[in-house]
Amino acid sequence: MKRILTGDRPTGKLHLGHYVGSISNRVRLQDEYECFFIIADLHTLTTQPQKENIEVLAENAREMVYDYLACGIDPAKSTVYLQSAVIETYELNLLFEMLVTVPRLQRLPSLKDMARNANLAEMPFGLLGYPILQSADILVPRAHLVPVGKDNEAHVELTREIARRFNYLYGEVFPIPDVLVGDVPTLVGTDGSAKMSKSLGNAILLSDDSRTVEKKVDSMYTDPNRVRADIPGTVDGNPVFIYHDVFNTNKAEVEDLKTRYRAGKVGDVEVKQKLTVALNAFLDPIRERRAGFEARKGFVDEVIYDGTMRTREEARATVVAAKKAMGLTGVWNRISRKAEDARKKRAKEPES
Ligand code: TRP
Repeated sequence: MKRILTGDRPTGKLHLGHYVGSISNRVRLQDEYECFFIIADLHTLTTQPQKENIEVLAENAREMVYDYLACGIDPAKSTVYLQSAVIETYELNLLFEMLVTVPRLQRLPSLKDMARNANLAEMPFGLLGYPILQSADILVPRAHLVPVGKDNEAHVELTREIARRFNYLYGEVFPIPDVLVGDVPTLVGTDGSAKMSKSLGNAILLSDDSRTVEKKVDSMYTDPNRVRADIPGTVDGNPVFIYHDVFNTNKAEVEDLKTRYRAGKVGDVEVKQKLTVALNAFLDPIRERRAGFEARKGFVDEVIYDGTMRTREEARATVVAAKKAMGLTGVWNRISRKAEDARKKRAKEPES
């Protein structure tokens, strides 16, 4: 069976953007692919290496895995694992570093964005290597497909280059993984800015209760030119309607609201109330499943534990294959064989 690898940095609870960008694809493809879902805790160190960050990683990982399970990721089918506990990731990362140039990495806008968002005046070496570490993740289980949001597309492209280069230099070890971007590649934030993101404070979390969703929708950015309900409004690019299009299953209602909005015949209040209802209908089953898993004490930890053990085996096999192909195993073998021979010889014929 072909394989998927994807995942997220454990910064805590996930939001609607994660769902439409990648998680819906993961849930959908669980039966078709053998899936590995990574809790990418090492990646958080690229911008936040402080001890305070590391201390919260376990709790953040749990919260994130609750969201995975709540969305329908099934640990009986799929493997969820902790990146930092699979040391082969660090090994592959180093080997891959030799196959990428610095200018290639410096051209990636995603890294500059991350440095800026983290208020870093200069680029840390590790942050420059973020996509190489991600390539190591993807190629640890030798994945064929990587479902991600639009912002990660360029990193999968780099992974393809690394896999091709490795195979060209050393022989066929890695598949060339394809990227799969979700139906909504980038979901706008509630404030109308380009991307929903927890750090920007414009996110609706998958675990938000209905009252919180209502409040967040109430304060959503809409058409700023529409100061009264009887002024014709703009639907295109209006975040409230973007969310309606994505999450409201009642398409007739959405079309009716759009028509009336364009004609200045419906207030923002009604459009938002209906959006709140639609979002809560979408989130209710997710909330319910989350509560069910939360009641099973220690269950998430077992899921992560079992998945990590499973991934370690795959990872070992991959690194052995990679080092063999490179001839690196042979370097050590030649030295160690000679050392053993020398020892044996000396034992037999003691020095005179
Ligand atoms: N870069 C992803 C993010 O934006 C997280 C991640 C780390 C990832 N390793 C991965 C995604 C491998 C897909 C495949 O949070």
